[in-house]
Amino acid sequence: MAHGEVDVYGALKGGVGKTRIAVLAALRQALVAGEDVHLVDGDRVSQTASDWRKDYERATGREFPVTVTRHPFDDIDELISDLRGKHDRVIADIGGGDPAVFTAALTYAQRLVVPIGADPSEMRRLPSTWKAAQLAAADSAVGGFNAWVLLSRTDHGTTLPREYRELLTSGKNPETGDALPVYPLLKAEMRKRVAYQRAYGTVPGEFYDVPSVLEEIGVIKTGAEAA
Ligand SMILES: Nc1ncnc2c1ncn2[C@@H]1O[C@H](COP(=O)(O)OP(=O)(O)O)[C@@H](O)[C@H]1O
Ligand SMILES: [Mg+2]
Repeated sequence: MAHGEVDVYGALKGGVGKTRIAVLAALRQALVAGEDVHLVDGDRVSQTASDWRKDYERATGREFPVTVTRHPFDDIDELISDLRGKHDRVIADIGGGDPAVFTAALTYAQRLVVPIGADPSEMRRLPSTWKAAQLAAADSAVGGFNAWVLLSRTDHGTTLPREYRELLTSGKNPETGDALPVYPLLKAEMRKRVAYQRAYGTVPGEFYDVPSVLEEIGVIKTGAEAA
């Protein structure tokens, strides 16, 4: 069998929406695309993805539609290497303060999505996350990965999403004129929605912004999936 694809949702920052997009992407691919998906919870600080599955199974008595393994350790690359031989897709939710787990998780990855809020304190952590990703790309066992930034929890009642989109893609600071790095920012956003908060511990019937993210990163191959 060909190797499964490996998608990492990660950032060296907690509370940005990694687990929301990782779990919903896994459920969407399992339930709508019919894939055999294995979710790896690689967050040493919290364990929301594993708890999500447990709480669902406890509350409903039914089996969660994707398998979840918690493994927030430096040898996560070995686990992912093994799992990609057995599943259509491995999705890794990589969190918080551990650059070693983050870079190891990218060893076999085809994709990295870095969610980030349109907010100064969250943006501060983006350069270090990006640097860690570049180091990981140099060590890739599969010829590297595509990486994107995803605006998360955006509130379009404010101008922040537009300002941060500009800041991330224009190459210069609009106030000082100083040069800034240009990030590959997804057009799709995870908007701020109560439905995402309520999704925890459930298998939702609707995936909101997730399919547009998956289309843009090439997980959903438009036209091909139905065939
Ligand atoms: N798009 C969103 N809209 C509203 N709330 C969100 C959204 N994404 C995440 N949240 C909330 O933010 C918190 C952190 O989300 P989570 O996915 O657990 O982040 P992380 O895994 O990066 O720590 C949770 O309380 C979650 O309900
Ligand atoms: Mg999380």
